[in-house]
Amino acid sequence: MSDGLVPRSLALVGAGKMGGAMLEGWLATGLPGPEITVVDPGVSDAMRALCERSGVVLNPPVAALPAPDILVLAIKPQALADAAPGLAPLAGPGTLVISVLAGKTVANLRAALPGAEAVIRAMPNLPASIGRGATGAYASPEVTDLQRAAADGLLSAVGRVEWVDDEGLIDAVTGVSGSGPAYVFHMVECLARAGREAGLPEDLAMRLARQTVAGAGALLAESPLAAEELRRNVTSPGGTTAAALEVLMGEGGLAPLMEKAVAAAARRAGELSG
Ligand SMILES: NC(=O)c1ccc[n+]([C@@H]2O[C@H](COP(=O)([O-])OP(=O)(O)OC[C@H]3O[C@@H](n4cnc5c(N)ncnc54)[C@H](OP(=O)(O)O)[C@@H]3O)[C@@H](O)[C@H]2O)c1
Repeated sequence: MSDGLVPRSLALVGAGKMGGAMLEGWLATGLPGPEITVVDPGVSDAMRALCERSGVVLNPPVAALPAPDILVLAIKPQALADAAPGLAPLAGPGTLVISVLAGKTVANLRAALPGAEAVIRAMPNLPASIGRGATGAYASPEVTDLQRAAADGLLSAVGRVEWVDDEGLIDAVTGVSGSGPAYVFHMVECLARAGREAGLPEDLAMRLARQTVAGAGALLAESPLAAEELRRNVTSPGGTTAAALEVLMGEGGLAPLMEKAVAAAARRAGELSG
């Protein structure tokens, strides 16, 4: 994050899997610990130790705190209703609220925290825990350019950030990248099972499938080539890969299945809003 975009004060509420990953990312990118306040009464020993090591202020009395420049909410969505009254002092008129709560809309967040004006909804995914996440984000119209740039910096600490202009698209983001890692893990399971059916010992099939997906993912991350081009490059006409792709890309293949899967996730994300 460039110096001009470092918030004067930053509060993180909920330092579990996602909040903890973000905190680690912020500290790794050089954000000064003493400028960060973490509120999480059930904080893990590892997070407590990280806060102590880096000078992060942990669990001060919330009522006595001035509203920070940026408030990042990373509690479970179902915890918001109970937590909100106690968090109200942290959302002042000048505070940017960044929420990673799945399904909680800008309207839901404003209703829970009446002081909140500028709100950003972000949907990160699991690889954020190793700094390789994909986050889709939406900024309400009240968010200033400087606030958006600061949020981009904070969210980029755990991976790539993509912005959408329509809040409704966050459900589609959830369907593609939010839930996406699970689709890839399932593909590994299916590939390993198919290997077993083709005669390989089960553990060998799993090791091959896992490393293949991990290696292909790493190649995709490093290569400047599009996925389609990488696919074409390993598909000789009439060869073995072409034979498999005829199945995967044929009628009833992966494309219509993936379309249905993403639509189902996006629909469910919409149903969970509220
Ligand atoms: N994990 C992911 O891959 C992922 C992806 C996208 C979005 N998200 C979003 O990230 C949010 C957090 O998910 P998570 O997986 O990180 O959950 P998590 O590991 O359970 O972390 C939530 C943390 O918040 C704490 N907490 C609960 N109530 C609180 C309160 N009133 N004040 C302060 N802290 C409180 C919890 O403590 P206790 O354990 O003591 O309750 C826990 O340490 C969710 O809204 C989820 O939708 C997560």
